[in-house]
Amino acid sequence: MAVFRAGENIFVLETENYQYVLGVGSDGLLRHLHWGEKVQPGDFEIKVFDDINSNHSYLDTICQEYSPFGSKLFRDCAFKCRFGDGVRDAVLVFKDYVISENTLKIFLEDIHYRLEAELLYTVYEDCDVMGRKVIIRNTGEECIECEKVMSAELSFPEKCEYEIINTNGTWWGEYQVVKERLSGGTLSFESRKGTSAHGNAPFFIAKPCLDERGEKTLFGVLEYSGSFKVSVSRDGFNVTRAMVGVNDFDFIVSLKSGEEFSAPWVYFGCTESVDEVSRIMNRFALKYVFPEQFREKTLPVLYNSWEATGFDVTAESQKRLAERAAKTGAEVFVMDDGWFGERKDDFAGLGDWYVNKKKFPNGLSELIDHVNELGMDFGIWIEPEMVNPDSDLYREHPDWIYNFKTRTPSEMRNQLVLNLTKPQVKEFVFDFIDKLLSENNIKYIKWDMNRPISEPGAENLRDGRELWFRHTMAVYEIVDKLKEKYPETQFEACASGGGRCDYGAFRHFDEIWTSDNTKPIDRIEIQNGYALINPTKAMRAWVTDSSDAPLSFKFNISMQGALGLGMNLLDSSEEELACMKKYVEIYKENREVIQFGDRYGLMNLKDHMLNANEFVNVKKSKAIIFAACVNTKFLHRSFKIKLKGLEANSRYNVEIGEDRFEKSGSYLMNVGIERDFGGDYKNEIWTVNKIN
Ligand code: DGJ
Repeated sequence: MAVFRAGENIFVLETENYQYVLGVGSDGLLRHLHWGEKVQPGDFEIKVFDDINSNHSYLDTICQEYSPFGSKLFRDCAFKCRFGDGVRDAVLVFKDYVISENTLKIFLEDIHYRLEAELLYTVYEDCDVMGRKVIIRNTGEECIECEKVMSAELSFPEKCEYEIINTNGTWWGEYQVVKERLSGGTLSFESRKGTSAHGNAPFFIAKPCLDERGEKTLFGVLEYSGSFKVSVSRDGFNVTRAMVGVNDFDFIVSLKSGEEFSAPWVYFGCTESVDEVSRIMNRFALKYVFPEQFREKTLPVLYNSWEATGFDVTAESQKRLAERAAKTGAEVFVMDDGWFGERKDDFAGLGDWYVNKKKFPNGLSELIDHVNELGMDFGIWIEPEMVNPDSDLYREHPDWIYNFKTRTPSEMRNQLVLNLTKPQVKEFVFDFIDKLLSENNIKYIKWDMNRPISEPGAENLRDGRELWFRHTMAVYEIVDKLKEKYPETQFEACASGGGRCDYGAFRHFDEIWTSDNTKPIDRIEIQNGYALINPTKAMRAWVTDSSDAPLSFKFNISMQGALGLGMNLLDSSEEELACMKKYVEIYKENREVIQFGDRYGLMNLKDHMLNANEFVNVKKSKAIIFAACVNTKFLHRSFKIKLKGLEANSRYNVEIGEDRFEKSGSYLMNVGIERDFGGDYKNEIWTVNKIN
């Protein structure tokens, strides 16, 4: 049983290896009791403490499951609201619960006002992951304004210090890993941009700084692509808590009588190591998160035109590129920006989603037919949430953007953001994509978003601060509707590279564009950071002309996700095309293991001068290892790589280029294989196969 009641007031959630326990005290408050190894549930008891003294209230020191701002709570809260009469004090006590299969619902209610908070917990037993969220309901007559609705409050089990891991990136430098030891105070990671953006990411991993007693590494990740906040605080009594949810900065939800607000899910768990978090969440995303249509399918190798032709796309140039792309073994040809309206650079055209007749005199079908004849599917780029002031759409509907009446809306990349919270704008966006897909054989949509939301005014809303959440929901709604209508079309989420990479994107899109930075050396770090908690399969990685590294090196790095090509193939020789084809074939032979297998970070450039990642299939019968060394220093040449995740007692055939040998799993994992990486850009792909 994954969810059950143990005694009067104790609720237990259990995954295969771990337990999460909560209970209701005699004061009616829902408390957090345990998060970690399984213990006998009958032993839990709830102690109700009083204030420590006049400066430290009991509310600040106990671990509530969901702390509202109210009464004597002075620390960070999970929820804050204002009732119709102006009172800004909520006291939520236990009212009821429902258990059905693997879900627990706990209903809390305010002691005076008609406000209900439904806390939902779902257990994904086989993945060692739990999910939780909250639904806030106004069951009374008067409007309630919610100023903060976190999805989850998570109290850490140990009083030790934790190292909190997140990312701190930029456009072109996504997923730069940061590790901060939290001794006291609050660490906050957030986005205020309307997307999850390139800076911090909507998750935390917390590694205990003492692991003498086997304290667990904890993690939590938010399923949301908009402005988020993850804050982790450690108080003076050494208790650490995380709040994860939609950013409360410039946030409001007004609930009229009978209305509710459903916050996004947070998935959380605990495990033995930071590296294991990546595997747990990879398996979880593959099984429970990705849209169903392509969940169990491997993603295709694609070619994308952006780095080759930029905005200068024409039927002729794209046809010639496509002919070349087909020779590499690419399975989808994606035409990027530049095909519509008066789009010759980024100054005009966004919003005018008709085919540019000068570039495509016979419409898109000439190109699409050609691509299909070459044996590839056709994909296309769009940026539906945006408009250039220099566009027919904007001239017709200047009131369709977010702005404040008395301010000039700020342009970024010469564009403005469409107000998707207006039904007619949402309809316009759905309709133009619907038309594009119904009139053309398009199997792949790259959905881009190249600037954040600024001057966030939306006069159509009762309170403009609602737009952040509503905008994100509108994007999901449109994509979901399109995916339902066109189940054979894949959707990629892109926001100037990796600005929309999060579990919300993984829930609604099939893959994401990782970064505009395709330089393989930079990519190593970007991809390692991405892999902390994000699934391999969704990570698009192109081989491009962006560096002088040899093709072998570029492919070595890009094969570690969903492989793509983006170089200007018009400049490639037949020999080079044949070489690309060889790598694409190696990828295709192994992509099942890469896209669906467990990833182990074996060595990384920063610490070991060599980067090595391993992907192992679920049966532990096949593995592929990508080892790459940019250059060796100080006469270092040989590196010993120890594998992971194999069966110790089984024997494996190892293939490294022309070298072939046989070893036991235990040898490969404990002794390892020593190889010479002396020189520049040395890299190897190893394949490891179990001998039956
Ligand atoms: C930003 C994306 O990240 C690029 O891949 C490309 O699609 C451009 N936008 C097109 O404008």
